[in-house]
Amino acid sequence: MSYKNIISVKQDGVCLLTINRPDKLNALNKETIAEISHCVSTCGTNDEVKVIIITGSGEKAFVAGADISEFAHFDKENGKKLSAEGHEKLFDLVENTSKPVIAAINGFALGGGLELAMSCHIRYASENAKLGLPEVSLGVIPGYGGTQRLPRLVGKGRAMEMIFTGGMITAAEAAQYGLVNKVVPQTELISACMELAQKIMRNSPSAIAQAIRAVNAGYRHDINGFEVEIESFGNCFDSADFKEGTTAFLEKRKPQFTGK
Ligand code: COA
Repeated sequence: MSYKNIISVKQDGVCLLTINRPDKLNALNKETIAEISHCVSTCGTNDEVKVIIITGSGEKAFVAGADISEFAHFDKENGKKLSAEGHEKLFDLVENTSKPVIAAINGFALGGGLELAMSCHIRYASENAKLGLPEVSLGVIPGYGGTQRLPRLVGKGRAMEMIFTGGMITAAEAAQYGLVNKVVPQTELISACMELAQKIMRNSPSAIAQAIRAVNAGYRHDINGFEVEIESFGNCFDSADFKEGTTAFLEKRKPQFTGK
C-alpha cells in the first residue's frame, strides 16, 4: 500500500513512521488513521521490524489532534462511532502491538495526538513539545482513550486538571508527571529514540511481546494481570529465544535472538 499522509522508513530493525500533514499540524483525519493503522499492523507481522517509532513531520507538531473539520457537523451516533472505530483501528491496536512502539513527540501533542502518544509504549519528547487534551474547549471530551490512559500515567488529580482546563503542559512538566520518559533537544529526538530502540533490540523479541501482553493485562478489568503474567512467563519457556538466551549466558557469549 502506498501512503499519502504518512512516511514509513524501515532500517536496521526499526520502522520510523512519520505522520506527514505539516500544513494541518499532522491532525489525524480518517485517512491518516487508516494509514497509521495499516503500517503498524504490517510491522507487527514483518520479522524485519523489531521496534516502531512514531513521530510527526516538521518542527512544530507531533499531532495537533483529531481533524476537527471532519467531525464538526457530527451528531451523537456519528460521535460514538468515531470514537469506537478510532479505539479499535488505531489506539488499542498500537497499545497491543507485540513490538515496542515509541512516540517521538517533536512538538504539539494535543487531543488525539497526545492520545496516540499515550497508546505508545514509551514516550520521548523534544524540549519544545507541548502536551494537552483541549477537547473540552471544543465542547467534547477526549474520545480516543484520553480519559482512561492519562489518569493511568499521571494520576487522577493531574489528569482531571489537564482535562478540565484543556491547557498545555511543557515537555519538562510532562517528564515530571511521568507522562514522557525523557526530554531531549529537538535535533536529538530521533537519535535518542533510535538509541533506545537499539538497547531494546539486544533483547528477546518474543520475551518482549510476552511482557507487553502481561503489562497491558494489568490495566484491564476483565482479566487478571497476574494470571496473564504466569501464562506469559510459561510461554517464554517454549521459545527458541529462551533456549538461546540461557545457553548464551552459560557459554559467556552474546545471544543471537530470532524472535521465535
Ligand atoms: N484539526 C484540523 N486542523 C487543524 C488542527 C486540528 N486538530 N490543528 C491545527 N489545524 C490546522 C489549522 O486549522 C491550520 O490550518 P489552515 O492553515 O488551513 O487554517 C493549520 O493547521 C495550522 O494551525 P494554526 O492554528 O494556524 O497554528 P497555530 O500555530 O496558530 O496554533 C495550535 C497551533 C496547535 C495551538 C492550534 O492549531 C490548535 O489549537 N489546534 C487545535 C488543537 C485541538 O483542539 N486539538 C484537539 C482536537 S479534538
